[in-house]
Amino acid sequence: MQSALPAGQSAKEAATASTRDGFTTRLGVIAATLGSAVGLGNIWKFPFMTGENGGAAFVVVYILATLFVGLPVMISEHVIGRRARTDAIGSLRKLAPRTPWWLVGAAGVAAAFLIMAFYTEVAGWVFAYIVKAIVSLFQGAAGELASTDPAATSQVFGNLAANPWLSLILQWVVLAWVAAIILAGVSKGIERMTKRLLPLLFVLLVIVGIRSLTLPGAGEGLRFLFQPDFSAITGAAVLAALGLAFFKLSVGMGTMITYGSYFREDQNIPATGARVMLADLAVSMLAGIAIFPAVFAFGFAPEAGPSLLFITIPAVFSSMPLGAFFMVLFFILTAVAATGAMISLAEVPVAFLNERLGWSRRNATLVTVLLLAIVGSSAALSQGVLAEFKLFGMTMFDLFDFSTSNILLPVGGFFILLFVGWRWAYPELKQALSNDGALQNERTIRFFWTVTKFVSPVLVFVVLLDGLGLLSKILALFGGGA
Ligand code: PFF
Repeated sequence: MQSALPAGQSAKEAATASTRDGFTTRLGVIAATLGSAVGLGNIWKFPFMTGENGGAAFVVVYILATLFVGLPVMISEHVIGRRARTDAIGSLRKLAPRTPWWLVGAAGVAAAFLIMAFYTEVAGWVFAYIVKAIVSLFQGAAGELASTDPAATSQVFGNLAANPWLSLILQWVVLAWVAAIILAGVSKGIERMTKRLLPLLFVLLVIVGIRSLTLPGAGEGLRFLFQPDFSAITGAAVLAALGLAFFKLSVGMGTMITYGSYFREDQNIPATGARVMLADLAVSMLAGIAIFPAVFAFGFAPEAGPSLLFITIPAVFSSMPLGAFFMVLFFILTAVAATGAMISLAEVPVAFLNERLGWSRRNATLVTVLLLAIVGSSAALSQGVLAEFKLFGMTMFDLFDFSTSNILLPVGGFFILLFVGWRWAYPELKQALSNDGALQNERTIRFFWTVTKFVSPVLVFVVLLDGLGLLSKILALFGGGA
């Protein structure tokens, strides 16, 4: 079995593997994985996509996608990483030498880059809202964010997002912040901080959720979130839910392969994946409960899109005692969560340039950030001066978001599933997932194997084709129709 392993490992690879400055400690595996998973995806993307796609039915599809696709891909990535003990591209090269499998890792580098390009802009809005919330705290009722009127809060966000220089500067501030953390080598410190602050974010979301639920008219929001109406679900919505499941768990692009490479030999991989998935889902649901009752109570539009978080959350805080103070705390904690996710994202291209191409970490970081500032600017400006500049009918911001979540991650995840389900023989997988027999989890492994081999890849394939409008064309071809 070992022979299937790193036959082709070079001395350089072995050396980098042992000297890599990991940004996770072995003991903090769950916290580190959660630190990557929990981010703007929970607090910003999940609610706005749920709002755009009709509510509860989308949530149900998203949860199914997480269980039957997201989690199996996460477990697959972790087990690949722990087997090979190096970065995504290197791991696939090691486990399948002289084959094109490493391309999955390469696509992951591209995905990480494109995600960062729009993610940093949203993080920039969060940074700006920290400042706005602090100013509002001192201005009291006259504060910019102290309103429950949709027209007013929408305008505050609209002015911010449409301002070209401010948008660019905010993105640069975020990029500088991420680069500084990576360059200072304090990622470990940040992870420790994230680990401590995530529970606080959780508590705060519960507090906001309670306030949101007790607003007059909140019930409609709850129904929106929990009472599914499947008639609204289209192929595109199912693909969006699948893409969100990938994005949320940071899978489909090899990030979790790198994380797996830091796992302890005695780490229970399926149990770790399940815990991370559940905790991540809990944060998303709490964000939904914090936002949707307020959306309906105050008369916001649930399909507001990417601005949803920024226009509803201030309104909820404005309607509660000590709201201005809690709002500052909320945006700071959101920024912390986003930072953890961004570090893991930036790490993908940085590690690639550093470990694969042999650049120094400093140069790798600087070049990554510089490229991101250039590519990201088109996303940063797409709510303002570039709003009319569209490719495939989408602004750059939407295009980066769509092409990563709906294409790159599902395709990457599909191949990762094939790799573990079809390229590995069952005995090898069993040995890896049972920690060489130390764990009595044969049934779990069998279940995982069956799903990974026969269920998840088929789901991804069909949903991708259907979501991109290709399934009907293919069926028509076979049916001899148009
Ligand atoms: N999972 C993060 C979120 O939901 O905010 C986003 C993300 C981080 C995606 C890291 C991919 C990744 F590699």
